[in-house]
Amino acid sequence: MEAWLITLVSFCVCVCVCVCVCVLIFSTLSPPPTTVKTPPVPSHIPIITPILWLRKSSTELEQTLRSFHAKYGPVVTLWIGTRPTIFIADRSLAHRALVQNSSLFSGRPKSPATAAVLSSDHRSISSASYGATWRTLRRNLASEMLHHSRLASFSGARKCVLNTLLTRLKSASESRHCVRVIDHLQHAMFCLLLFMCFGERLDEGKVRDIARVQRQMLLRLRRFSVLNFWPSVTRVLCRKRWREMLRFRREQEEVLLLLIRARGRKQTVLNDDVVVSYVDTLLRLELPLEKRRLNEGELVTLCNEFLNAGTDTTSTALQWIMANLVKYPHVQERVVEEIRQVVGEGEREESQVIEEEELHKLGYLKAVVLEGLRRHPPGHFVLPHAVSEDVVLNDYLVPKNGTVNFMVAEMGLDPNVWEDPLGFKPERFLNDEGFDITGTKEIKMMPFGAGRRICPGYNLALLHLEYFVANLVWNFVWKIPEGGDVDLSEKQEFTVVMKNALHVHISPRI
Ligand code: HEM
Repeated sequence: MEAWLITLVSFCVCVCVCVCVCVLIFSTLSPPPTTVKTPPVPSHIPIITPILWLRKSSTELEQTLRSFHAKYGPVVTLWIGTRPTIFIADRSLAHRALVQNSSLFSGRPKSPATAAVLSSDHRSISSASYGATWRTLRRNLASEMLHHSRLASFSGARKCVLNTLLTRLKSASESRHCVRVIDHLQHAMFCLLLFMCFGERLDEGKVRDIARVQRQMLLRLRRFSVLNFWPSVTRVLCRKRWREMLRFRREQEEVLLLLIRARGRKQTVLNDDVVVSYVDTLLRLELPLEKRRLNEGELVTLCNEFLNAGTDTTSTALQWIMANLVKYPHVQERVVEEIRQVVGEGEREESQVIEEEELHKLGYLKAVVLEGLRRHPPGHFVLPHAVSEDVVLNDYLVPKNGTVNFMVAEMGLDPNVWEDPLGFKPERFLNDEGFDITGTKEIKMMPFGAGRRICPGYNLALLHLEYFVANLVWNFVWKIPEGGDVDLSEKQEFTVVMKNALHVHISPRI
């Protein structure tokens, strides 16, 4: 009796365990049940709504999304162009997607029509699918260009660019009552990124040529993205736009290839005294799947990405920070006071430059930079992400290959995290020493994104911002010109810039 009872119980336990294991395996591997609903789609008329969304600026898109999120919750779907995009406004959901489920959310949607021309068929870091090519390109940038010792090798170039910027600002302020700042900041950042990219200082004429070609492409990228919408039709209907895109790309290839080839010829004679440039690393790189070196089109694509990613983002952030330092003079004075106290004035007779090695002592300066990035992130969205499998987020199905984006600017203004979110109050970062901008543990703001696709240049960007802000306020007093004002309205270009560019009166501080 006892024996058969024991056998029966053991059998039942075995069956139960087997069933549980099967259910567990099945539930982790199988797609979520089809009963899970997709995120709400606010009023949608096929063909018409996608075209209307496509025509909206991202500022308009953001305003409308804000009202949709208030009505439908933190996850909504909009049909923009040919595909639906899911927009996520909540920082905890962003953390769950980008950090906790990073491998699922790290793809990029394909843009087959324009990609062949603009990104050498997705062979840039930002456009590559999540896989071996992306990993190789990204690792090359991160470990060959952006790691600590390589960044240090460019400190001479940074100082040189800074001195030129200070001289240009001084002469502009002497000849005019007020100075339009952004032109100077953009020029300085561009010169610096050009040097890092090609390893040499270019003369003013060449810099202007390349800057013109790069800008004309950059400012029209949105216009060209329309060509991915029903390509066989738009290629005919928007013939002029196609031709314009091809012409711009040709011009870009002409100017960049001259520099790439020249650097390629120097490769054979590079010695230890010469800095290693981004192109040098690319010329040595091998694509893992194709087992070949990069071709010239791919080199142009990657140099273009490097120049764009590092110039406009940083100069935009720099302009926003300086605008707030002009609007709130007490913050500007506190930065100067900190420099005076921590770094001291004594040893600076010859040079008025705050050195890079001194920046780590300047906690309030760091707080000012972080507050600038929170209040005015240069990108109000990240680049679109693609999902590699069906996944359930906040009870909604995010379908395989679905496009997802995140409302970066909204997260930085979340009143549950940030008291008086519209104010410019760097002090809030002083209590949070070692604030984690990567959002690894928790996302409070994400100006550089988060997870595996986080901006690989964030350390360089922070260095540039701290170095230039410190030196700009140390060397000049920045003021609103008489009768003027600092208008913090925004407009979308490649990044979200000041609608009315900052004009200031500057005078030497020392
Ligand atoms: C203030 C300056 C900068 C800001 C605010 C910024 C912001 C961003 C953001 C939001 C993304 C998209 C992340 C995502 O898709 O989830 C990104 C991607 C990227 N950024 Fe930056 N960035 C800055 C400076 C730089 C610099 C200096 C470089 C390099 C020179 C750089 C290189 C890149 C690259 C290559 C990507 C694509 C990463 C990938 O897809 O794996 N960025 N950046």
